[in-house]
Amino acid sequence: MTKGKILVTGGAGYIGSHTAVELLNDGYEVIIIDNLSNSNRFIIDRIQKITGKKVFFHQEDLLNFAKVEQIVSAYNNIKGIIHFAAYKAVGESVEKPVLYYENNIVSLLNVLKVMTLFGIPNLVFSSSCTVYGQPDILPVTEEAPIKKALSPYGNTKQIAEEIIADTVYANKNLFSIALRYFNPIGAHESALIGELPLGIPNNLVPFVTQTAYGLREELKIFGNDYNTPDGTAIRDYIHVVDLAKAHIVALNRMISGNNKESFEIFNIGTGNGNSVMEIVNEFKNATGLDIKCNIVGRREGDIEQVWADTSLANMELGWNAKIPLREMLSSAWNWEKAYRADSKQEKEKYNLNLEHFKNLMALGFSNNGFNAEEINFLVNKAKDVGISVANWDEWMKEVSSFTFQIPQNMDEREEYLADLVHLAMVDGKVHQTEYDMCLKLADKLEIDAENLDKIIKLIEKLWKNDA
Ligand code: NAD
Ligand code: WQD
Repeated sequence: MTKGKILVTGGAGYIGSHTAVELLNDGYEVIIIDNLSNSNRFIIDRIQKITGKKVFFHQEDLLNFAKVEQIVSAYNNIKGIIHFAAYKAVGESVEKPVLYYENNIVSLLNVLKVMTLFGIPNLVFSSSCTVYGQPDILPVTEEAPIKKALSPYGNTKQIAEEIIADTVYANKNLFSIALRYFNPIGAHESALIGELPLGIPNNLVPFVTQTAYGLREELKIFGNDYNTPDGTAIRDYIHVVDLAKAHIVALNRMISGNNKESFEIFNIGTGNGNSVMEIVNEFKNATGLDIKCNIVGRREGDIEQVWADTSLANMELGWNAKIPLREMLSSAWNWEKAYRADSKQEKEKYNLNLEHFKNLMALGFSNNGFNAEEINFLVNKAKDVGISVANWDEWMKEVSSFTFQIPQNMDEREEYLADLVHLAMVDGKVHQTEYDMCLKLADKLEIDAENLDKIIKLIEKLWKNDA
């Protein structure tokens, strides 16, 4: 007997994946909808590996209401939805406000529409301490005034809370809890899931772990002239597993009818503030590693200090953050190391051997195959990645008359396509001309364009994260 089904949007993401693990551990069944715009498919496998339980995963965009409706209609009696899916990069939201308003607001509207349509009663919503801006009184309580948002991202969270309030007011069968997260950091103790920032991280802790790993030269500390004891800005850092657990208690509260209002809001933090310098020092203590730091000017839009008054969540939800700062930082470091080791292995897996390259070329040669330019490109790339052949002209002649049977096994076919995608990348991206070449091979392998795109996305991400 399970406790019932929970739909988790954005469940392949950082906080969503940790919450999926806690839900499964608590006896719920988990359905995930995620378009993988900021996450990886392998995280779903990892959630299953950690828990030994199955996840019902649907790669879909929440903006596509017809598809969401179709997915949800296939399940009956979903007890609640945890809505994580959103874009979250503050700086990017300033540059692309429409993208942020559309993704964050329309996805919420679609979630509320399916809840009404299928009678799903309970919603936990990912809100943020960003709604407070720089509070006048610290620690900040849920009663603090909501000030004008400092970014379109922050505004999407303020608007979302209002939309939820209006919707539950109008519909007596809907209940919601918004959790205002402070600064989630760290990773699951298994080091199988964690935060996966694309490109250069904006957030402090991923930047620290990447610097420690040697991917970044130094940590830039944004300002040491704040009105704080050591001059650096203060935040309330909370372990992502403590945060994930808050979602379970929030859901349980609504499912068992213990909520006091139809829409409730709770701060989810530790109640402690730590400065940037303290984080760096504690990371050094936790790992024994040194981090090169450089004090630079303040980052635009940053507030000076904020930490949570968590008494409402402690009392009402019976929830407390438990994991100490040192463990938050050592778990972040363990995840960074494990993830880098895995992607190195992954890259090595794609270190082409001559046999694989021969098969790949033979496949490409067959009717309507690669053109002269493409063959030239591939041979040069093969040389670059260390494939050595005494006489390329002779070798090419031999390969052009060699017939390689298309493997029956789909995984093997995808491996050949992935080999080609690796070769086709220029500066970490597959551009149009090379894409056309990949499409030809995909066609021969009977792999559709959609799957090719997935493979490309995955490999591009892999290279980006390793860059
Ligand atoms: P994340 O980017 O790791 O996870 C979000 C997930 O949603 C990703 O897997 C992404 O692919 C998916 N997604 C985005 N748009 C989608 C769409 N239209 N359809 C389907 N899937 C979509 O981010 P996270 O750190 O796990 O954050 C989760 C939530 O918590 C977000 O709403 C975020 O705004 C909020 N939040 C995060 C923080 C933080 O510091 N990480 C702090 C406060 C609030
Ligand atoms: C923490 C501190 C930086 C990077 C953001 C969003 C917020 C919420 C959480 C979603 C700050 C300093 C950072 C670096 C640094 N997200 N820093 N060097 O800014 O508190 O909050 O994430 O809702 O909305 O704004 O988190 O991790 O970016 O920064 O000195 O390279 O570290 O200035 O004082 P922030 P952060």
